[in-house]
Amino acid sequence: MLTSDARIEVSGAGRRFGALEVFRDVNLAVGEREVLAIIGPSGCGKTTLLRCMHGLIPLSGGEIVIEGSRVAGPREGVAMVFQHFGLFPWKTVFHNVAYGLKLAGATQAEIRDKVPRFISLVGLAGFENYYPYQISGGMQQRCGLARALSVEPRVLLMDEPFGAVDAQTREILQFELLRIWEMRPTTMVFVTHSIEEAVLMGDRIVVLKGRPATVHEIVTVDLPRPRTRATLATPRFAGLREHVWNTLMADARRAELEIVR
Ligand SMILES: Nc1ncnc2c1ncn2[C@@H]1O[C@H](COP(=O)(O)OP(=O)(O)OP(=O)(O)O)[C@@H](O)[C@H]1O
Ligand SMILES: [Mg+2]
Repeated sequence: MLTSDARIEVSGAGRRFGALEVFRDVNLAVGEREVLAIIGPSGCGKTTLLRCMHGLIPLSGGEIVIEGSRVAGPREGVAMVFQHFGLFPWKTVFHNVAYGLKLAGATQAEIRDKVPRFISLVGLAGFENYYPYQISGGMQQRCGLARALSVEPRVLLMDEPFGAVDAQTREILQFELLRIWEMRPTTMVFVTHSIEEAVLMGDRIVVLKGRPATVHEIVTVDLPRPRTRATLATPRFAGLREHVWNTLMADARRAELEIVR
């Protein structure tokens, strides 16, 4: 579905690394204030696709258009939260967050104003002068989130932002992100390998599958917002989770049945 008011349009996108074709003919559109979740097995190219959207690496074919112009490199208004935090070990929490603003051309006064605000928003007040090695994984992830949010991006690209933290922290961060998103809804591409997380966060879920990976299905998540812990207990949530599970697992189950026979 390509719509003219889409913030992000991916058309015929393919990427290969030498002989390895990672994904092929990916077509997607992400609307304004839409959260598009992308799910797929490890190695199917989720991070690669996000890096292409961010302009960190080029596509091998096709194109990605963000806000009307073709992506050729990182740009103002688009921020990314990395799978493995992406913090500078030699910078404090304050300076890690400030880094994104500096790149965006913020003045010292803006940095003094915004950095503490976003550090508080993600629950890290009091840890401004700590280095990454002095804080927990969940706190490092919050720091990466604060850095991305502080530039007040119109497009937020998130690569398994909670993949490296424990299950409880993950749940806390999911609901915090939903709370922050409700305050200021932005266009978001949210990569995850958790089916629950995709259903909880997404307006639609793109299921990537195969080698090379292609868009196998796009599932519309018709759960009302704001989404809360209560959402997890609804029959509709369970139905969508089962649907995505079946889509992802269909091949594995077919193989299993063949073994049984
Ligand atoms: N710079 C690179 N050079 C060569 N191959 C690469 C490079 N980056 C990624 N790949 C390959 O592309 C494929 C997809 O990698 P990618 O990191 O995008 O997967 P992913 O879907 O994000 O996986 P995961 O869920 O484990 O994070 C992998 O086979 C990987 O080896
Ligand atoms: Mg990845």
